[in-house]
Amino acid sequence: MRERIVSGMRPTGKLHLGHYLGVIQNWVELQHKYESFFFVADWHALTTKYDKTENLKNDVIDVAIDWLASGIDPEISTIYVQSLVPEIAELNIYLGMVTPQNWVERDPTLKDMAKILRSKEGQNSQISYGLMGYPVLMSADIMMMNATHVPVGIDQVAHIEITRDIARRFNNVYKEEFFNEPQPILNHCSLICGLDGNKMGKSFQNDIKISDTEEVTAKKIMTAITDRSRLRKTDLGHPDECEVAFKYWTIFGTEEQVAKVRCECEKGERGCADCKRQLGALINEKFSEIREKRRYYEAHIDEVKDILNEGSKKARTEAQKIISHVRELINMY
Ligand code: TRP
Repeated sequence: MRERIVSGMRPTGKLHLGHYLGVIQNWVELQHKYESFFFVADWHALTTKYDKTENLKNDVIDVAIDWLASGIDPEISTIYVQSLVPEIAELNIYLGMVTPQNWVERDPTLKDMAKILRSKEGQNSQISYGLMGYPVLMSADIMMMNATHVPVGIDQVAHIEITRDIARRFNNVYKEEFFNEPQPILNHCSLICGLDGNKMGKSFQNDIKISDTEEVTAKKIMTAITDRSRLRKTDLGHPDECEVAFKYWTIFGTEEQVAKVRCECEKGERGCADCKRQLGALINEKFSEIREKRRYYEAHIDEVKDILNEGSKKARTEAQKIISHVRELINMY
């Protein structure tokens, strides 16, 4: 049997270059090598935003459009919506039973999420039972397709560790080596920072979206931080102290381009504004095909919905095979 990957993203709306470089680009390559399942984790969105669901359906579509435009091919990968595969919720119940409470309590990613939540909503804000169950639900997503591998960003690796523990424990309790212990697959692309040098994120307003127009992209790039010690164009620059712009060059430029930028900057022959104008043009060129595809799907939302519905049906067929064996193992009617 071909090895299988499962991965998902929460529907946070339109995705940014961090999502593209950190995760999607990797999926696009892996889909040719593995049997691939990619889903929009709308239940996971509820773990923190259960009271802000007005845009949820649109956000699911936006994420799917970004995937399709980026090259996730619905002919070879299964693209689906988590909540359209209700078997995941059933598996979540069974997995919850075999998971000791302290395994979820010590999950570092969950601790971080709780910290962020408290900083937004005040010290006394309560973590919901649903949020506590985040790693178990995520394990259900992965084990629902009995995945062998999970391509994720580094921040998700702790969750995958718990999934491996839960899979092992389930197999022990029900005395069959049924579930795989899935391995994370990390990508090797360097992490892209936001325009202000911090982690790129929607809520920090320092991101460039896949869906941004060329004008917006060019404008945003002009705000990217450079070498703070440099005041005039003719000052000698320090590319290694350039906080954002030079880093972007190393991500998007060819080796020759990067060498040229470094050399001109160090000699004081390249001003930061000019440098960023060129950088904006380069990024726009890189994304022009993806953005064109994106515009196509935006104009054909019904096609996107069909892809999600078809994919969800296919995912469900797989899920039903797994869940019926699980029910048998546990001795359910
Ligand atoms: N927790 C992941 C994130 O925030 C999303 C996710 C949910 C996921 N279920 C998953 C990723 C299963 C991989 C596999 O990015």
